[in-house]
Amino acid sequence: MKVSIFGVGYVGLVQAVVLADVGNNVLCVDVDAAKVAALNAGEVPIFEPGLEALLQKNLDEKRISFTTDAAAGVDYGEFIFIAVGTPPDEDGSADLTHVLNVADKIGRYMTDSKIILDKSTVPVGTATQVRNAIQAQLTSRNLTLNFTVASNPEFLKEGAAVNDCMRPERIIIGIEDTQTTAIAAIRELYEPFSRNHEKVIFMDVKSAELTKYAANCMLATKISFMNEIASLAELLGADIEMVRKGIGSDSRIGYHFIYPGCGYGGSCFPKDVKALINTAQKSDFPLHILKAVEKVNEAQKLKPYQHLLTAFNGDISGKTIALWGLAFKPNTDDMRDAPSRVLLQALWDQGVTVQAFDPEALKEAQRIFGMHPQLRLMGTKEAALQGADALMICTEWQQFRSPDFELIRQTLTHPIIIDGRNLFDPARMASRGFKYFGIGRGESLKHT
Ligand SMILES: NC(=O)c1ccc[n+]([C@@H]2O[C@H](COP(=O)([O-])OP(=O)(O)OC[C@H]3O[C@@H](n4cnc5c(N)ncnc54)[C@H](O)[C@@H]3O)[C@@H](O)[C@H]2O)c1
Repeated sequence: MKVSIFGVGYVGLVQAVVLADVGNNVLCVDVDAAKVAALNAGEVPIFEPGLEALLQKNLDEKRISFTTDAAAGVDYGEFIFIAVGTPPDEDGSADLTHVLNVADKIGRYMTDSKIILDKSTVPVGTATQVRNAIQAQLTSRNLTLNFTVASNPEFLKEGAAVNDCMRPERIIIGIEDTQTTAIAAIRELYEPFSRNHEKVIFMDVKSAELTKYAANCMLATKISFMNEIASLAELLGADIEMVRKGIGSDSRIGYHFIYPGCGYGGSCFPKDVKALINTAQKSDFPLHILKAVEKVNEAQKLKPYQHLLTAFNGDISGKTIALWGLAFKPNTDDMRDAPSRVLLQALWDQGVTVQAFDPEALKEAQRIFGMHPQLRLMGTKEAALQGADALMICTEWQQFRSPDFELIRQTLTHPIIIDGRNLFDPARMASRGFKYFGIGRGESLKHT
């Protein structure tokens, strides 16, 4: 089948490559000419495990290509995916400029019937706006053409995106049930991904649009709930890791997404929580739970900073801190809304110099911060320790889980570890001679 994809970021690119890999012919359109040129040369501008090799394979087999030519993109596919960004507007609502821009182009250039699938995360009612924008262009061209707009929200996880797209847990399609031809075509497009059981769940458009927000907001809620309980554990002298194991073993709760830490970040949870709060506000329905989720998360990002102040009796000016982890989570170079960014700013404001290491996000940090006088980007986690007063951990990369503790202790001027991801056992850290602050455990329990 012929597929066009508008927007080749984390979502569009992975979806494009995976659809090409099962045999479809895919033409990708992006407004970023440099990105298009790089992708045509097989260079992936983001870090996503397995993506570059799969792209190269499908480029070699000529099933995928990239262009900036929107007219060619609209003309090409019987399916057109919209996978452009929906960043937060100033009031927290999702900015639909890019989505509606693509809709406008579809209406302007289409000459035969199309099935349009919206993969961007968009508020309830956006499919109608997309449909209206396309129709407005067709009307101005005096054309009557059949087209279907379906909602097809994406649930991939950065860092595991290729696998998530190849083996999705579910594929949500919001579509009017009168669109029987389009429903059959979409079912066929996704058949290769439903091999052991049917993964596609058809529903009405509004429910599909809301499903995506509800999913991300539920996950964000689990994280903030656990972080709030972690702060309470500190006050009460309980160990949150014991509590986590205790409640995770209840099958109604489970172990997923209840890790305490220094807050959620990334391109999705923060903006989707904000956007759903905004959507509800427009219906005069305040979402009390989500407002609290957001508030807890904002405070949580500063926990490691507060522990650092405690460790140095409030005097951190002029100190040098080694920071392990800049990406908002492991296996990605994405630093959008990463807790590390809030921490860096708080540390810089107090006159701290940061020596940071991240296995994949150094280039991204360089792009964001340029030559910041209080930031040194280091090539290894050991180099980040040199001359540092304490170590702070912000991302749970695999290579941070079992470091050379003796080297850390000997290199730091003070044996202090502030662990924003609870990687280590407090008792063992104490026996190794460290002052160890976790989230809801360790030294942080003693200083409340
Ligand atoms: N990143 C994730 O983990 C994830 C997961 C699920 C859903 N989503 C949602 O998917 C959407 C895309 O997210 P992303 O992270 O891939 O974004 P991204 O910012 O990485 O990529 C968006 C791409 O769209 C391009 N673009 C913008 N306007 C365009 C236009 N008019 N025509 C063609 N290309 C255009 C940009 O140049 C960019 O390459 C968002 O709505 C996001 O909320 C993201």
